[in-house]
Amino acid sequence: MSEEYTEEQLRVIAAQLRQPNGDFGIQIGELMNSGNARMNRHTIAVLNPSPNDTILEIGMGNGYFVPSIIAVDKSIHYTGCDYSVIMVQEAKRLVKSSRAKFVCGDLHTLPFEDSSFNKVFTINTFYFWDDHSRALDEIKRVLTPQGKLILSVRPKHNMGSFPVTQYGFSKFENDEIKTLLKESGFSEIKLTHIHEPDGEVFGDSKKRECAIFEAFKE
Ligand SMILES: C[S@@+](CC[C@H](N)C(=O)[O-])C[C@H]1O[C@@H](n2cnc3c(N)ncnc32)[C@H](O)[C@@H]1O
Repeated sequence: MSEEYTEEQLRVIAAQLRQPNGDFGIQIGELMNSGNARMNRHTIAVLNPSPNDTILEIGMGNGYFVPSIIAVDKSIHYTGCDYSVIMVQEAKRLVKSSRAKFVCGDLHTLPFEDSSFNKVFTINTFYFWDDHSRALDEIKRVLTPQGKLILSVRPKHNMGSFPVTQYGFSKFENDEIKTLLKESGFSEIKLTHIHEPDGEVFGDSKKRECAIFEAFKE
């Protein structure tokens, strides 16, 4: 079934996807869990949570997928950082574990010490970064030497077909992202490109793709 959204409604949804807020933000958090479920599962498979990992996720939304990460091994520690107050509150409410911590903060000034995490991952946040090179430097700072970044996005040619992304989303093709990663000093860049089955995106049935980049801090 297809549903029409007004321009104003699309603008409001786009702003909520960027930074969920209030009661509607809670609903948007739940919609993201279903709409991005496959992408989250594929990314967590690439993340490959392993014993003694200290993992940072940037922009975890309400933390729905966190239990599947920390369940892999009792020595795994997870931290989620999101600049949406309501998402941090929801994640704290939904995920109760001494090995999962949720912190409010902006990725351009991450509230963590240098070399705090051996893996950093982020899903569907790249479109909202204000300064990609500063953000990548900040991720490098909090990664341990030879630490790994996993960055998951829907590429421009796919995102461009979702009307909501006309409002404040920066879209990139895979080769542009690879260049940004290289310029920021990440190496051994590997890409997994996945075609998902069609799914609903705010009223329309759409093809969805996801690009999962793995890159090491040099
Ligand atoms: C579109 S949602 C994606 C949620 C989830 N990762 C997913 O793929 O379903 C983007 C999330 O990233 C957060 N976010 C966006 N920009 C951010 C920034 N500069 N710093 C921290 N969090 C940010 C938003 O608050 C929101 O929770």
